[in-house]
Amino acid sequence: MARLAMFLFGVLASFPAAASDAPAPDASALFSIHCAACHGGDRLGAIGPALIPENLGRLKPSQTRRVVSEGRPATQMAGFAEVLTEPQIAAVVDMIYTPLPAIPDWGLAQITESWVVHNDPDSLPEGPQHGADPLNLFTVVETGDHHVTILDGDRFQPLARFPTRFALHGGAKYSPDGRFVYLGSRDG
Ligand code: HEC
Repeated sequence: MARLAMFLFGVLASFPAAASDAPAPDASALFSIHCAACHGGDRLGAIGPALIPENLGRLKPSQTRRVVSEGRPATQMAGFAEVLTEPQIAAVVDMIYTPLPAIPDWGLAQITESWVVHNDPDSLPEGPQHGADPLNLFTVVETGDHHVTILDGDRFQPLARFPTRFALHGGAKYSPDGRFVYLGSRDG
């Protein structure tokens, strides 16, 4: 009995020591190595979305840990379960829920200043220059090579293909008359 008690005491006593012996994962080094290429060294997004509390608020930290360990199917977000340990994933997730020291100013003034007008709207023809139904155009966002192809939605034939900004979202939005299509880019 005494020996069992000693054994149990030994097991219990060794736990806190083992935990404090393991060095805490260096979250920002892990982020630079494994995440920065896609999410930006400043965590403000690139080909992947910004990883800041303002953006992650809709996910519980447990869901975020699952995204990091399992990835998101059919996206460039691969799972890291084979690459990082659970404590390392937890440390990186804690880090991305930590507010940045400052969020860059990005208001109407900066947005307006950043505009690139490829074709002045007044210089464009009045009507469609193709025979397709403007209310059934099909927009293919080619994320990998930063192009968009517009297809005739009835025949799935390409009408136009053009280069875009870096890393557009796939969710195209149309004006009600089909005249314009709007695409958001992950880098803002
Ligand atoms: C090869 C590029 C790439 C790398 C490397 C990468 N990610 Fe991602 N990540 C993405 C993309 C793209 C998405 C968006 C997926 C989608 O469309 O849902 C994403 C999504 C996420 C999300 C979900 C964000 C949200 O708002 O829903 C989290 C969290 C995340 N990544 C964390 C990480 C972490 C942490 C690392 C490093 C351990 C990492 N990612 C490495 C490309 C990458």
